[in-house]
Amino acid sequence: MSLWGGRFTEEPNGFFKTFNRSLDVDYKLVKQDIFLSIQWSKALKKIDVLTVEEQKKIEIVLNTILKEVEINSKIILESQEEDIHSWIEKKLISSLGLLGKKLHTGRSRNDQVTTDLKLWCKYKVQKILNNIYDFKKNLVDLAEKNQRSIMPGYTHLQSAQPITFAYWCLAYLEMFKRDESRLKDALYRLDECPLGSGALAGTAWNINREELSDQLGFRTATKNALDSVSDRDYVIELLSVASISMIHLSRFSEDLIFFNSGEVNFIELSDSITSGSSLMPQKKNPDALELIRAKCGKVCGNLLSNMILLKGLPLSYNKDMQEDKKSLFEAMDIWINCLKISVLILKNITLNLKNCKKSAKKGYTNATELADYLVKKGIPFRDAHHLTGKIILYASKLNLSLEQIELTEFKKYSKLIEQDIYKNINLDSSLKKRNSLGGVSFSQVSKKIALEKKILNK
Ligand code: ARG
Repeated sequence: MSLWGGRFTEEPNGFFKTFNRSLDVDYKLVKQDIFLSIQWSKALKKIDVLTVEEQKKIEIVLNTILKEVEINSKIILESQEEDIHSWIEKKLISSLGLLGKKLHTGRSRNDQVTTDLKLWCKYKVQKILNNIYDFKKNLVDLAEKNQRSIMPGYTHLQSAQPITFAYWCLAYLEMFKRDESRLKDALYRLDECPLGSGALAGTAWNINREELSDQLGFRTATKNALDSVSDRDYVIELLSVASISMIHLSRFSEDLIFFNSGEVNFIELSDSITSGSSLMPQKKNPDALELIRAKCGKVCGNLLSNMILLKGLPLSYNKDMQEDKKSLFEAMDIWINCLKISVLILKNITLNLKNCKKSAKKGYTNATELADYLVKKGIPFRDAHHLTGKIILYASKLNLSLEQIELTEFKKYSKLIEQDIYKNINLDSSLKKRNSLGGVSFSQVSKKIALEKKILNK
């Protein structure tokens, strides 16, 4: 019999029952639902709906169920129940008979499901924060080891100016610091307890909701029951934080795929995290990075599907909301797994320093230095830029780097150019000059690494 037998005279159609079920997804909320039910039974005891003995019995049975599922939560899936809430209630009733039927007094599956889901989110966010921490730590470690590894930085995927691999690592560090802070913000907002909201208008029983919220470990209780049972902002907020972070991981992957390509050859990934080709013996493919890039699409898609799920839903609870969990669970697991594999990748990168440096010198990455040199000699920047362009045109026709141009040749473009031009346009000076806050100079980077290590060790 279902939870609502009284009003119905017909048995549900078999296919409808299957279509209506969510147990195969929400069984993952079993621990949260048991914890919630124990706290609810205590709240009912305080208002004398349950006696002290009755509450104790309920708590003991709920804990026994918890032990059972801790060994193997998949046993839940053998049942035909509609969802995890009805599954637990059925188990309670089969152990305690009439007493088991008292637990649902004053609550609804509407406030129950969103409280469970928020508890699950709080648990999962903590896991994700730990994984972000690991990723950040490995970025800083790798940066520290590669402070002198000069390579080209790109715009439009064209060599632009020299940077270092450490600096590249620190760029991703900034992105993941923002992800972390967004996640903490989202956590703060979702940390309000909806239990005690009833079906939609509040519970008719004199429950102390602030106390209940405390017991369940929430920051505070929600303030409007109609909103409480229909709010799924936290689901789309977490999914959007996940999507942004997955976009970061996807860009990280794309950069590394490029650095790893045969043409560029800046890095090598160790055998343990790459795979070969079934046909071409020479291949060593960056599969893990490609998979991260692809999985980003799945997470963004799940955000979109949840936003569309909510769009136009009337207040308050609608069964549509049952569909939010699968995509949230899936996205959070993808995110965690991609962070984990990214840590593994960071631990398995070797730099091809010679190639990096050789590339940094190619493509006139010191053109800005030449323009800046002319500015220092008194030429306005626009004209200096134009003049430098002309010199590069000349050099590229003869396949020369700027350093290879003779001083007499330079002087044809500007009399102001002197012998000191050469020390102004070499790689080291280009890096050294960018010493303002956030710049690429060795000294800025090493200061930043020291600061970040301190923050990580706190
Ligand atoms: N399985 C449902 C869900 O996930 C639980 C809430 C059911 N409430 C209801 N009024 N039918 O949303």
